[in-house]
Amino acid sequence: MSQTELAGAQPKEFTRRTFIKGVIATGATVSSAGYLFRGTSLLGAATYQTATERLITLSINGQDRRVDVLPHETLAMTLRYKLGLTGTKLGCDRAECGACTVLVDGVNQYACSMLTHQVRGRAVTTIEGLENPDTGELSVVQKAVMDEGGFQCAFCAPGFIMSMTSMLDTNPNPTREEAAVALSGNLCRCADYEKILNCAMRAAELHRSV
Ligand code: FES
Ligand code: FES
Repeated sequence: MSQTELAGAQPKEFTRRTFIKGVIATGATVSSAGYLFRGTSLLGAATYQTATERLITLSINGQDRRVDVLPHETLAMTLRYKLGLTGTKLGCDRAECGACTVLVDGVNQYACSMLTHQVRGRAVTTIEGLENPDTGELSVVQKAVMDEGGFQCAFCAPGFIMSMTSMLDTNPNPTREEAAVALSGNLCRCADYEKILNCAMRAAELHRSV
C-alpha cells in the first residue's frame, strides 16, 4: 500500500474517476445537482428546488466547506460525492462494515449512518485530514500501517485507520485484546485481522513515543 493511498489520495493517472474528482473540485460551493440528476425521474424538479435551499457550512478536516445538502443525505454521500473525499469508502451502506468510518468531534462514527445535517457545528475528520497539513507528515497510525505492511486490498484500511486513531485518543496503551474490541466495528473482507492488530499495536507504540 503506497503513502499516497494511505493519505486517502488517488493515483495521479488520468482516469474517469480523476476526471470526475476534478470537476467536483472546481467549485467552492458544490451543488447537489449531479447527485439528484441520477434519480431525476424519481425525484423530480420539486425535490431539486428543496435541495437548493439546503446550503450549509461544514467543518471538514479543519476547513469550512459550503455544500448543498439534501435533508435525507448521509455524511458518506456528502463526503464522497459532493466534496470529493473518496478516501471514505462505502461498503455495506448500512452500519455493518465500518468502511465509511470518520471522526466526528474525535469519535469514530459510521458516515453511512449519519445524516450530514447532524454534523453541522461539529468537527469532521476523514482519512485525508490525518496527515500534518503543513508538512504532509503521516499520522502515527498511518506510519504504523506502512511499517507493518498491514492490509491486503486495503479497501477497509481508511475505516480501520480512523478507528485506530479514535482508540489511541481514549486508550493510548491498549492490550491486543483491547485493540481488537476497539476495532470490532470494522470488518475486513480479506480477513487480515492479525496484521491489522499488529498495525494497531505499532501505532500505540509510536503514539507513546511522540
Ligand atoms: S459503509 Fe458504513 S458501515 Fe459499511
Ligand atoms: S484488506 Fe481487503 S478488505 Fe481489508
